Amino acid sequence: MNIRVARPEDLLAMQHCNLLCLPENYHMRYYFLHIISCPQLSYVAEDEKGRIVGYVLAKMKDPEPNGGENQPKLGNITSLAVKRSYRRLGLAQKLMQQSARAMAECFQVDYVMLHVRVSNRAALALYTRILNFQTMGVDAKYYANGEDAYIMRLDMSGKADIQENKSINMGENIGDGDKALNKGCSCNHCGHDGHCC
Ligand SMILES: CC(C)(COP(=O)(O)OP(=O)(O)OC[C@H]1O[C@@H](n2cnc3c(N)ncnc32)[C@H](O)[C@@H]1OP(=O)(O)O)[C@@H](O)C(=O)NCCC(=O)NCCS
Repeated sequence: MNIRVARPEDLLAMQHCNLLCLPENYHMRYYFLHIISCPQLSYVAEDEKGRIVGYVLAKMKDPEPNGGENQPKLGNITSLAVKRSYRRLGLAQKLMQQSARAMAECFQVDYVMLHVRVSNRAALALYTRILNFQTMGVDAKYYANGEDAYIMRLDMSGKADIQENKSINMGENIGDGDKALNKGCSCNHCGHDGHCC
């Protein structure tokens, strides 16, 4: 297994993995937006034959238009998935850690943000128990089927210098490591900020 930064030629395979694993699907142009705007922040997990078995899609959040100059810098996890037969191998943890590390190194983010279904026990365990995300609130009826989302946040303050100490408080050291093809986008938020993990 190998974790590496995502490239434009990976996007179809990432979209395929997304379609297999999640009901929140995105137009191909939305994947491109991530790779073009923040090419450092999205990662893929590939098997020994170079087939993509998991990905994290991430970008920087745009500042609020009326939020003033001292807004915190926010990185955003748009989507995370690992194919079923490759789960519980630590791939999602590593993908998340790599992306957060890149957010700190490249953009000096204050927080990493994401949304997660309140029923998604696997992802919640990963985010809270392993990666130390905190639950900040609930977005009611966030998902297209009316399900609520937890708003989760990882404090990254003081972690911009992880180039040197290679350590980040996410459970363990890191660093080792058009229209959708067959479905339309089913999320309520794609097209503005798309934080629909
Ligand atoms: C959530 C998901 C990304 C986790 O991927 P993964 O590669 O299996 O996760 P990891 O192996 O890195 O798990 C790390 C830890 O998270 C927790 N965890 C992961 N899956 C879990 C599950 N099904 N039940 C309970 N805890 C789980 C465990 O603590 C695990 O450590 P352990 O295996 O040593 O117990 C994967 O289940 C998935 O793709 N699900 C469908 C898509 C999805 O829900 N994406 C997230 C949207 S917000």
